[in-house]
Amino acid sequence: MCGIVGCILKNDKAAPVLLDCVQRLEYRGYDSVGLATYSSSGINIKKDRGKINEVSQKLHLDELPGEIGIGHVRWATHGLPTQENAHPHTDCEGKIAVVHNGIIENYKELKDQLVSEGHHFVSQTDTEVIAHLIEKYHKDGLDLEEAINKAITKLHGSYAFAVISTDEPNRILGVRKESPLILGLGDGEYFLASDAPAILQHTRRIIYLADHETFIMDEEGITVKDRDGRVLDKPVETIRWTPEMAQKGGYPHFMLKEIHEQPEAVRNTLFEVSDIKKIVSQFPEFKRVTFVACGTSYHASLVGKYLFEGLLGLPTDVILASEFEFSEKAIDPHALVIFISQSGETADTLKALRIANKKAKTLAIVNVLGSTATREADYVIFTRAGPEIGVAATKTYISQLTCIYLLAACMCQDEELLEELQKIPDCMKAVLSLEDEIKEMAGKYKDAQDFFFIGRGFSYPTALEGALKLKEITYIHGEGYAAGELKHGPLALIDDDVPVVAVVPPGKSHDRTLSNVQEVKARGARVIGLGSEDDPVLSSEASDMVEFPHQIPELLSPLLYVVPLQLLAYHISVQRGIDPDKPKNLAKCVTVE
Ligand code: F6R
Repeated sequence: MCGIVGCILKNDKAAPVLLDCVQRLEYRGYDSVGLATYSSSGINIKKDRGKINEVSQKLHLDELPGEIGIGHVRWATHGLPTQENAHPHTDCEGKIAVVHNGIIENYKELKDQLVSEGHHFVSQTDTEVIAHLIEKYHKDGLDLEEAINKAITKLHGSYAFAVISTDEPNRILGVRKESPLILGLGDGEYFLASDAPAILQHTRRIIYLADHETFIMDEEGITVKDRDGRVLDKPVETIRWTPEMAQKGGYPHFMLKEIHEQPEAVRNTLFEVSDIKKIVSQFPEFKRVTFVACGTSYHASLVGKYLFEGLLGLPTDVILASEFEFSEKAIDPHALVIFISQSGETADTLKALRIANKKAKTLAIVNVLGSTATREADYVIFTRAGPEIGVAATKTYISQLTCIYLLAACMCQDEELLEELQKIPDCMKAVLSLEDEIKEMAGKYKDAQDFFFIGRGFSYPTALEGALKLKEITYIHGEGYAAGELKHGPLALIDDDVPVVAVVPPGKSHDRTLSNVQEVKARGARVIGLGSEDDPVLSSEASDMVEFPHQIPELLSPLLYVVPLQLLAYHISVQRGIDPDKPKNLAKCVTVE
């Protein structure tokens, strides 16, 4: 987790720019923040625990002198969120400052060794060993670059880090291994960041570093080298995202903006159809499909299962990425293994991808250009959601679903389905127009302590996703359940204190889910029904009803029925006084296993 940034500017102070960049990365971590700049007096550091605005107001982060610097937002992994554990970290003499994203797995043994050699540590973090290792090799006579290269050989784990030093004052050096890192080229000014939204204000010209590549940035430019020290001619790519796309645009929260951007996200993703057709034309014959993902992306994968089995008749499994290693032996070499990840950097997903790459053909469906998954999978499809800043995935989920539908439609050459998909953006706008009703509903249910979300078939993943959204941003316990399973246990929990959200589109599952609605009602539950505008029975059973246009076929319902559930969670969150963009204990990109 965590986010790192850095910049070398021509004539301006680096600190205000670094502060702006870390603010844009706050979704990667928000328990501590810190900046280090270089000026004639040496390295200047300000850092503390707390949200960026609070720390900045207290410490005046933007007042640090110097035109070169690095910055960090932290999501604690090793060591509590404290002032000492906030980055940047330094060597014993304060001559080297490091910001790091990732985890140094062998930091304990390295630290013990360094302590025995006389190094004094001030934090409980794994990162601090990087500064001391570099110091050690630098003192042995290596220049900064050589010292970093030697330090890297000792580190196990994942890292993207950037270093400044008083001994080589006009440069920033760094490396990436299994944690994201991009470099940005401005007009005689240079930037680095964990993720593009941090630096979009300054440049859209990006170099994507691959694993084991190192960089040296100074006022002359950027040099990238491979692990053997060979200078690489890295392509500079211009990204399509604009700075406005990474701002709130008048909405009170990113999450609400991103919910409302969903029709556009679907429309943009639908443009992928020609790329997807090309990819499909290269496929060998597959006997099976296996989806692998985490969290919300896992729910998108479950929709994929119903779709691939229903449309293509291909046996389809869905495996949680963190569980994948336990199924490793059963991976069919004739399977297409599809990895779904918004960030393309989720550690569990990448680990599974690396295992699967040895066994079968892999396809990654990813939102972030240049992310690790896009470089490692055999085939890549991009979701065109644009940058998603809110921690809770919304528009990226919808774009993932859109890609999965496109893929299935292309694989079975279902032109009718491709046409149907074109109608989704307008239908979604109609659903979004129900926001005021849903906001009012949120007021009625915001004090509940437990919720159930139920659905069958295509509506089961929607129920799971509705429950996940509720949990993560309202801190209310929500359980998504296959409606038919309620009677096998959880019905015991249902009473008049437990609202049940029932996802009941017209179609194959409708009547049986309706019976389940009647069962929970008989136990006193208040039911929020999601169904067709033309469903008098559901309307009469439900205490509250969200109505959808009748013509939405069940097969496409996941694309629309999840939207009111996102809005419900959002409005309950706000009405409970929670910031939905920054739920506690969570981060946007989970780069730890
Ligand atoms: C929930 C959420 C997470 C992610 C999960 C996987 O709103 O966003 O559950 O879906 O951490 O992340 P990606 O898709 O980046 O692999």
